[in-house]
Amino acid sequence: MAEQKTTQENILKSQQKCIALFSLLCCFAVLVALIFSSVDVWGEDEDGITEENCNFKCRIVLVENIPEELDLSPAGEGTLGLSVGLHGLLDMAKRSVEIVSPRWDLTSREQQAGHFSGNEGQRLFERLLGLKSRGVKLKVTSSLTDSAELTALSAHDAEVRYVNMTALTKGHLHSSFWVVDRKHIYIGSGSMDWRSLAKMKELGVLLYNCSCLALDLHRIFSFYWQLQYKDYIPSIWSKRVTALYSRDEPLLIHLNNTDANVYMSTSPDLFCPKDRTKDIEAIERVIQEAKSFIYVSVTDYLPLVNRTSRGLHVTRYWSEIDEALREALVLRRVTVRLLLSFWEKTHPYTINFVSSLSSLCIQQMDCSLEVKFFSTNEGLHRDDKGLNNNKYMVTDNALYIGNLDWVGSQFTFNAGTGLVIKPTGEHLDDKPSILDQMKAAFERDWFSQYAKSLQHIMTQMGSPLKTPALSLAGRAMERRERSGK
Ligand SMILES: *[C@@H]1O[C@H](CO)[C@@H](O)[C@H](O)[C@H]1NC(C)=O
Ligand SMILES: *[C@@H]1O[C@H](CO)[C@@H](O)[C@H](O)[C@H]1NC(C)=O
Ligand SMILES: *[C@@H]1O[C@H](CO)[C@@H](O)[C@H](O)[C@H]1NC(C)=O
Repeated sequence: MAEQKTTQENILKSQQKCIALFSLLCCFAVLVALIFSSVDVWGEDEDGITEENCNFKCRIVLVENIPEELDLSPAGEGTLGLSVGLHGLLDMAKRSVEIVSPRWDLTSREQQAGHFSGNEGQRLFERLLGLKSRGVKLKVTSSLTDSAELTALSAHDAEVRYVNMTALTKGHLHSSFWVVDRKHIYIGSGSMDWRSLAKMKELGVLLYNCSCLALDLHRIFSFYWQLQYKDYIPSIWSKRVTALYSRDEPLLIHLNNTDANVYMSTSPDLFCPKDRTKDIEAIERVIQEAKSFIYVSVTDYLPLVNRTSRGLHVTRYWSEIDEALREALVLRRVTVRLLLSFWEKTHPYTINFVSSLSSLCIQQMDCSLEVKFFSTNEGLHRDDKGLNNNKYMVTDNALYIGNLDWVGSQFTFNAGTGLVIKPTGEHLDDKPSILDQMKAAFERDWFSQYAKSLQHIMTQMGSPLKTPALSLAGRAMERRERSGK
C-alpha cells in the first residue's frame, strides 16, 4: 500500500513538473514571439533618432539630369544637377548611406567610349568606395546577382543584401532612393547607372535634415533588407518595417518654410506591410484631389498586365489609373497633360489607349486631355540617349514622384517607392515652391522642340499598325500562379 502511494505521489509530482515546464516553455515562446515582432533583432543602431525627436523642418531641392545634347535649361534657381546633388549627400554623410537601385552600372566602359564629359558614373562609384575610409557604413539592397560593382563594394566593407524578386513576385526591384544618416533623402528616376548621370533625362528630389520622413523611408529600406534570400513574404512583420505615415495619416513637415503633408508609398501589394500606402492608391488620391490640372511625365503608359498562368500568357486590362484620369477629365473638368516617351520599347497599344482617353473630350466644353511624346530625333529612339526617364506627376495642389512607369505590369510585379507632397499652407517664401519648380520643369519639356504631338507620332509610325505581340519587351514580369504552388 505504502509503495503504491509513493508511486502515485511520484506520478503526481512528475505531472506537476510537466505542467510547470510546459507553462515555462509557453511563457518563453510568447516572449520570443514578442521580442521578434516588436524589437529590432538585427541589432541596428537607431542613431537615437525617433518619431518623437525627429526633425520636420526640412529643405527640399529639385535635382535633374539633363543630357548635354538636349537644349533644355534647369527648371529654376536653386535646382541642382543629379550628380552634384548626390555628391552633396555623400559630403554630408557621417554614419550611414543606404541605397536601393534597380541597376548598378556606374563604371561601364561605354562611358569612356561615348565621350561623355566628366565620367560622372566612375566619380560617384569612387566616392562610394571611399566611404569606408571615412567610417561611413554603406548598405545596399539589390535584386542583381551578378553585379561586379556590388562585389567590389562588398570588398570595401559595404554590406550588400540580395532580394530574390524572381522568387517573390517574378518582378524586379525598381526602387531607387538613398537614405543618408537617417536624415537626408534622395528619391527619383535616376539610379546607380552612368546613363542616369550622363545621357538620360532624370528627375528627383533631395530632402535635407528631414529625419521624420527619413525614418519612414529607412523602414522601406529595412523591409528589403530583411528579405535577404527569402522566397516568401513573412506574414508577421517587425514593427521596424511597418509604415509610420500613410495617405490617411500623413506627416506634417515644413518644406522650405511651407507646411506640407507628406508620405511614402510602395509597390507591389505584397510589399506593403501594415499601414503602408500602395503606390497606386497614392496616385489615385493625387489625381482625385486635383482641382485644375494634372501634368504627368512618365516614359511608358500602358493600362495592361501580363501574366503567365500555367504556361499560358494572359494579358488583362488594368483600369486603375485610366479610370481615375477619366473621372478627373469628364466629371471634374481637370486639364490633363501626359508626356510620354517615344522609343524602341514603346508598346504600340500605347497610342490606342491614349487616343481613347483623349476622345473622351470630343464635343465637351472644358474637357482637355493632351498627349505628347518626348523624342530627341525623328525616327524611333534606338538608344536610351536623351530618353526622358522621368516618373512624376504634378497637379495644382500636390506632387507624386515614383520609381515606376505607369504600366499595369510594373505596379503588379515590380518593387517601387513613391513620395507624395501636398502643401497645406500659404507659400511664404518669395522663391518658387517645389510644386512651381516641378510645373516649370514639366512645361519646359512640354513646350520644347522634343515634345511631339500624338498626330505626329501616328504619322511617323505609319498605318495600319502591326498587331503587337502582347509581351512587354521581353521582360519577364509574370507572377507565378500562386494557387499552383
Ligand atoms: C529650399 O531651400 C534650399 C536651401 O536654402 C534651396 O537651395 C532650395 O532651392 C529651396 N527649394 C525650393 C523648392 O525653393
Ligand atoms: C531565386 O529564387 C528562384 C526561384 O525560387 C531560384 O530558382 C533561384 O535560385 C533563387 N536565386 C538565388 C540567387 O537564390
Ligand atoms: C541641416 O541642419 C544643420 C543643423 O541644424 C545645419 O547646419 C545645416 O545647414 C542644415 N542643412 C541644410 C541643407 O539645410
